[in-house]
Amino acid sequence: MTSEWQDSAATASDMEVGRLMYASQSNFTGPVFQEMQRIREHALQRNVADEVHVALLHQSGWFVEWMEGPPAGVHALMGRVARDTRHRGLRLLHSSRGPRRLTQPWSMAIVQALELPADFARRVATLREEHQQGRAPGPATVWRRLSTPLTHPGAAEQAVSDRFQRVMVCAAKGEASFDMVRWLGRTHKAEVVHRRFAGSRADGLDVATDYVDLDIGAVVRRVIAMARNGLHLGLTQAFLPDYSHVILLLSGDSTRDGDLMQRLVAACARLVHRPVVLGLGLPFCDHAALQKMAHRGGLVYLDCDLAGHIDAQAWWDAAEPLLDLSLAANSDWLPLSVSAR
Ligand SMILES: Cc1cc2nc3c(=O)[nH]c(=O)nc-3n(C[C@H](O)[C@H](O)[C@H](O)COP(=O)(O)O)c2cc1C
Repeated sequence: MTSEWQDSAATASDMEVGRLMYASQSNFTGPVFQEMQRIREHALQRNVADEVHVALLHQSGWFVEWMEGPPAGVHALMGRVARDTRHRGLRLLHSSRGPRRLTQPWSMAIVQALELPADFARRVATLREEHQQGRAPGPATVWRRLSTPLTHPGAAEQAVSDRFQRVMVCAAKGEASFDMVRWLGRTHKAEVVHRRFAGSRADGLDVATDYVDLDIGAVVRRVIAMARNGLHLGLTQAFLPDYSHVILLLSGDSTRDGDLMQRLVAACARLVHRPVVLGLGLPFCDHAALQKMAHRGGLVYLDCDLAGHIDAQAWWDAAEPLLDLSLAANSDWLPLSVSAR
């Protein structure tokens, strides 16, 4: 195993970084989040010094770590991690050179799924085999395939991009995005998966996101509720290029709505492919101002007004017709002043 990752991390050019992923079995017996925070504190100092960016997942008794950075830094980190007694049985799942996806030094995620460690192990074994046969998918795909429980409609489909659509929902105020995902779960009788993420900052730790996979025939649509302060996380930004749309549930308070748009523009700043933004709100929302901000940030903005009683179903009924894949696929040449009204 040692020579595998040493070889792969040896010769990246300046344009590329070394990218390496492994899975291991956790030896933790106490609370996972606290232990991961301890790792984070140490990692932040070391990883920043080495310019290595890392995302760490804990799920069903397993760790998955995704590292990107100068080959020497990745190499050094892998050497330290391999000796750590807090986990065992490291399996290399990916090693390559390529563009950096992780925009920040540290992200971590705890996925609370009902899946057993043995089932997770089977998925690790499949990816390990693909890696050994030289068929390893990219790091983002490896991460997704491991963090999606097998029982979900999206588990098999997510590697096939034209059969899989990712949509993020973010509310300017309150919990409306989470209410909507819970309502979708109940309506479609689909399990809602809860995840907790954290980034580099000691404050604002522990961002929740929930998602549900909806098999709607032509596509499997994953709808992900994201907390506002989750937009700055490295992991969120690493996956944003794969989203077709971000739905903003607006409050009508122009300061709050503007703040949300600003967060989204900042999160998309370094992306080549950017999702289409749907701004949903009551008739008095200042769509013109939000559209201006979006355009300045290179984002396509579609606005839609709701009338009457607003609940989870009303938000979804307004958003769903706009989640047209072809629209997102062609967003590069869409006029920036498209209005959904
Ligand atoms: C799953 C897991 C992931 C880790 N990730 C990192 C990391 O990204 N960066 C880091 O410096 N240490 C990380 N560590 C901690 C290292 O294994 C090791 O304890 C630490 O780097 C040792 O540092 P030292 O040589 O300065 O004592 C991780 C540990 C575990 C169990």
